[in-house]
Amino acid sequence: MRSLVNLSMGVAAAGLTVLALSSCGPRGNKPNVEVIQDMMESPAIKAQEYDESSPFHRGMRVPPENTVPVGFEPYKYGTDVEAASKNLKNPLAGKVDEDTLVVGQKFYETNCALCHGYKGEGGVAAKATLTDKMALKPPPVVSDKVKAWTDGHLYHVITMGQGVMGPYASHIPQKYRWQVVNYIRFLEKQSK
Ligand code: HEC
Repeated sequence: MRSLVNLSMGVAAAGLTVLALSSCGPRGNKPNVEVIQDMMESPAIKAQEYDESSPFHRGMRVPPENTVPVGFEPYKYGTDVEAASKNLKNPLAGKVDEDTLVVGQKFYETNCALCHGYKGEGGVAAKATLTDKMALKPPPVVSDKVKAWTDGHLYHVITMGQGVMGPYASHIPQKYRWQVVNYIRFLEKQSK
């Protein structure tokens, strides 16, 4: 009995050694040794992959009609900027704590600063060679005009775009959009 226990412990230890060895060594040069192959290659179909069983043979499926992702709220105002400006209330109004501003800054600097500038001064992309030809230079977002807007108006422009500026709804999730609004308000105060 005892020898059986010893034996199985020995086998387990050997197994662990193989696992440990297979996961070390120079990375990038040699492929890993796949001890348990199922764990390395997921059977899940990738979005762009061919899928025999899918209606359009695409891995990516169209969500069933009348369904929305969990936590998603449809945007009520469409292109009605006036209704949005009047009715959208900023749940984070006046919040300038670090958590709010850091999130706002991250999304602003990723998506907006390339055109509107890190300080909201505008015209940035217009200075680059490629966009020098932009018919309409990105205006400043720190301006008396935008200062006079409601937070809802600003939220609307981020969500739906304005004129030649496209919408950023798919770049900035709903739950982080008000932080971007607050960050622009913060930039306004900095500019004084
Ligand atoms: C590719 C360049 C570009 C990017 C990126 C961009 N914008 Fe714009 N934005 C513009 C242009 C151009 C206009 C003027 C559009 C018009 O009125 O036809 C504009 C207009 C605006 C206005 C209105 C300003 C005014 O005086 O009317 C606001 C506010 C604004 N953008 C905010 C943002 C925010 C916030 C982001 C990031 C989520 C962003 N923009 C990303 C180019 C850009």
